[in-house]
Amino acid sequence: MTHETERLRELVATELGRARDRTTLLTETVDDGDLSRQHSPLMSPLVWDLAHVGNQEELWLVRDVGGREPVRRDIDELYDAFKHARRDRVQLPLLDPREARRYVATVRDKVLDVLDHAPLEGTRLVERAFAFGMIVQHEQQHDETMLATHQLRTGTPVLSAPPPPAPAGRVTGEVLVPAGAFTMGTSTEPWALDNERPAHQVVLPAFHIDRAPVTNGEYLAFIDAGGYDDPRWWTTAGWDHRQAAGLVAPQHWVRDDAGWLVRRFGRVGPINPDEPVVHVCWFEAAAYAAWAGKRLPTEAEWEKAARWDPATGRSRRYPWGDESPGPEHANLGQSHLRPAETGAYPLGASPLGVHQLIGDVWEWTSSDFHPYPGFAPFPYREYSEVFFGPDYKVLRGGSFGTDRSAVRGTFRNWDYPIRRQIFSGFRLARDA
Ligand SMILES: [Fe+2]
Repeated sequence: MTHETERLRELVATELGRARDRTTLLTETVDDGDLSRQHSPLMSPLVWDLAHVGNQEELWLVRDVGGREPVRRDIDELYDAFKHARRDRVQLPLLDPREARRYVATVRDKVLDVLDHAPLEGTRLVERAFAFGMIVQHEQQHDETMLATHQLRTGTPVLSAPPPPAPAGRVTGEVLVPAGAFTMGTSTEPWALDNERPAHQVVLPAFHIDRAPVTNGEYLAFIDAGGYDDPRWWTTAGWDHRQAAGLVAPQHWVRDDAGWLVRRFGRVGPINPDEPVVHVCWFEAAAYAAWAGKRLPTEAEWEKAARWDPATGRSRRYPWGDESPGPEHANLGQSHLRPAETGAYPLGASPLGVHQLIGDVWEWTSSDFHPYPGFAPFPYREYSEVFFGPDYKVLRGGSFGTDRSAVRGTFRNWDYPIRRQIFSGFRLARDA
């Protein structure tokens, strides 16, 4: 066994352990009632997410990579995300919290044994531990989803975290991204998912993009200017949704006599005008952009602003370079339970001086979710391919609730334009 393979096994074990520690935190800070309850029709009961994480791990790592006997083939159907809509999962005969914990622990024991023995080369599924990396990201993605469920939960606060770092200085205005080609997507990132592949050249005209995401203070000006009551700023579908859903402010904002407050993980507090706005849907982001006389960036514009290095012409893994995210680069991984004020991560800026692209808030782009030229589904069609089309808008960059293993300069997230229970914000762009 080579030294490099040994290091890879250690990395996988560490990453699996970090994901499980987070899952444990999110599922042991609430009681069994809260674990089994439906906190929102948009979300699964937390206990479904827990066993689903274990079931996916069993399918891919125990059975497929390991070639081992199934642990619980009888529950596959219950935890198949394509078989049951989130709103219906509470009615299924799910494993109870005790059974779910025992199940995921049994699966994990077997997986650590598989990890000790599996070849990490030879097939694309195991090459550089891809399947393990996919499962690490899957668990972390469900952890972010569970964090959003925590935000929707009512009752005594159970999560806490220190505040994010204070800004080093104000970050305002925009940068000019010159016209020309850049490399979008990746063919080399070992744990990149199918929709991020392959690397390909994209030529863009020059554009301006904001150095920071839109803040609460800026968004409040849109509210105060009557932006929610003026159909001029909204797309037709957006205005219909604004009317039907009664949107008047970002989700979790609450109005009192003195003005707007925000409820975060069970605690109500003042709105910080210098933090990126979060919990807005694509329609709200697009309306704000129209009101501000700008637009959302396309997905390609976002990625060029984040990755393109004018000095070398190559695309970086992250805005700051190729090294994995550290706490000095970005607000990730639930280390802080809110976005940081703009300017808080000067070391995370891109070569062009664009800040906080990674972490803080997922950023809506104007783009629908489409395959890159040369796309091939892997390891299964349901990972990405079935979602391609005009129904979903792409979000980029991860949020304060995204783990560092589940975001990079090429990472693509997608959701319906009405969704805002996710940690979603945006930044603006305009033609040069
Ligand atoms: Fe899943």
